[in-house]
Amino acid sequence: MTKLLVTGGAGFIGANFVHYTLQNRPEYEVTVIDKLTYAGNLDSLNSVLDRINFVTGDICDRELMDKLVSETDIVVHFAAESHNDNSLRDPWPFLQTNLIGTAAILEAIRKHGKRLHHISTDEVYGDLELDDPAKFTPDTPYNASSPYSSTKAGSDLLVKAWVRSFGIHATISNCSNNYGSYQHIEKFIPRQITNILSDISPKLYGAGENVRDWIHVDDHNSAVHAIIDKGRSGEVYLIGADGEENNKYVLETILELMGKEKDAYEHVNDRPGHDMRYAIDATKLREELGWTPKYTNLREGLQATIDWYRQNDEWWKNEKAKVEAKYAEQGQ
Ligand code: NAD
Ligand code: TYD
Repeated sequence: MTKLLVTGGAGFIGANFVHYTLQNRPEYEVTVIDKLTYAGNLDSLNSVLDRINFVTGDICDRELMDKLVSETDIVVHFAAESHNDNSLRDPWPFLQTNLIGTAAILEAIRKHGKRLHHISTDEVYGDLELDDPAKFTPDTPYNASSPYSSTKAGSDLLVKAWVRSFGIHATISNCSNNYGSYQHIEKFIPRQITNILSDISPKLYGAGENVRDWIHVDDHNSAVHAIIDKGRSGEVYLIGADGEENNKYVLETILELMGKEKDAYEHVNDRPGHDMRYAIDATKLREELGWTPKYTNLREGLQATIDWYRQNDEWWKNEKAKVEAKYAEQGQ
């Protein structure tokens, strides 16, 4: 058995990664370390808690990370403060977890000679114009816009520095926007679905022309496994599934799939510094590692996601009022 330490495994992508791994890769023994911040939810792992080791803890705790890394073979590092809007309200937890926490993991990786896969975002590259034919590639210069994306960019640079200076065995992936089950309801797609289910009108920032390159969370995680299996140390892989759509289209599709009028939403205050467009060129991942996405029909993926939130309201209902109150303070 190969031992996998998953940081942030009670969050959206991490929890889906744990489920995906247990279902598809029986050769792995999984340990999760998660601080269970507002974004972590142990209920997301309830059905598999007897098949994994779960540790409640902070990745910034150097002694704890040293111990956990010494006991594993591979670390897959998802844990982060992950929401742009929160980073604009208060950047400090982002600096702490995304930078200091990643450094604590890197030092333990270096000391114990283990393997790291670092999970990052395409937002480290800044944004593209709507009419620009270009997409992000591994050669695109870093140009992050928000405290969230700049601390993720910083964490990537830490990993690259530890590879170059200390020769650690590490890979990095930068993925586009994920959607699917277990995503916190502060994020765009689940916020709108749960608004509609709660009789609250959906909220579109600004004109809604901003484009995101949507990928189903299971496609992200199958790509992460492809990189763990076959990725070359020190390399960066961009993960995306050619899912570019603007926010207005995504919201109108959700409304239509939920049997509502297409214009039954409100325009609210735009996000300061709002990135216009993200787009991934995943040629390297597809050609070098032979990866292909499975869930390329966004309408079908949205329908399945809507069904999941409808059937699992006990997973999100208690959070709803709190999340909306925070947004309301900013006119969003
Ligand atoms: P999330 O906010 O849903 O989950 C983050 C998890 O990390 C939570 O369980 C939280 O409790 C845990 N955590 C936070 N601080 C911690 C700390 N100090 N110590 C231990 N655990 C801590 O985030 P997500 O959307 O699942 O994102 C996971 C990773 O993927 C992040 O690194 C993010 O930057 C990256 N990413 C996300 C997306 C996306 O669309 N959501 C896209 C590309 C990359
Ligand atoms: P989000 O899910 O926060 O992801 P990111 O900022 O990482 O792209 O937002 C996705 C897009 O949706 C982004 O352009 C902001 C927009 N948005 C809204 O229009 N309304 C909302 O209520 C939220 C949360 C986001």
